[in-house]
Amino acid sequence: MNPPAIAIDGPAASGKSTVAKLVASQFGYTFINTGAMYRAIAWYLHRHGIAPTEVEKIKELLPDIPLEFGKEGSSSTVLFAGKVLTAELTEPAVNETVSIVAAVPEVRSFLLRKQREYNRSEAVVMEGRDIGSVVFPDTPFKYFVTASPEVRAARRAAQGLTDSISERDKNDASRSCAPLTQAPDALLVDTSDLTIEQVVRLIARDIESKLSH
Ligand code: CDP
Repeated sequence: MNPPAIAIDGPAASGKSTVAKLVASQFGYTFINTGAMYRAIAWYLHRHGIAPTEVEKIKELLPDIPLEFGKEGSSSTVLFAGKVLTAELTEPAVNETVSIVAAVPEVRSFLLRKQREYNRSEAVVMEGRDIGSVVFPDTPFKYFVTASPEVRAARRAAQGLTDSISERDKNDASRSCAPLTQAPDALLVDTSDLTIEQVVRLIARDIESKLSH
């Protein structure tokens, strides 16, 4: 049996990254940001002048894409040419294309294998769109973190990023392969009127009670 996998899904700018990181550190689990994995592929394609709609080219390139999905300390990282990608992943071109790239089934199955590998030997808190529904459908630890569209738009603007989150949400929820969805057995956490601490406490309590059963 694999170590525990905590699945945290939700729409853009719902606060799930911050919450997932804190939950991971509280339990001593590894934090995995799957959005960064999709973003890295979108960044690489953009850098090579490949449009997100050039599906055949993307499929061909995927197995040889020189990105490394690794770990530094207790968090996942994506490396290109030995360098950890950070600011590159939130460039406007990446925000614009990532949800189109993420709708390509071959991109999803390529990353799915890598995401599951992280949980072979260690407990993880994994954050994304399809973690509870597709990546770890059997985990009892599923949380769907959301907030009102106004709150989410304000949170993204406060980060100073150009990002059309409603466009991405629409793409993510309407794609046929692994769309953004609340798994039927996921606990819904609306963070609109909660502090980060309150959200973390709520999720941590649920995990603890399930771990002790
Ligand atoms: O930080 P934010 O919530 O805005 O986005 P993210 O988690 O970095 O994800 C960026 C994009 O990657 C999403 O809009 C999805 O298109 C895609 N994604 C996905 O399809 N499946 C995942 N498990 C994670 C991200």
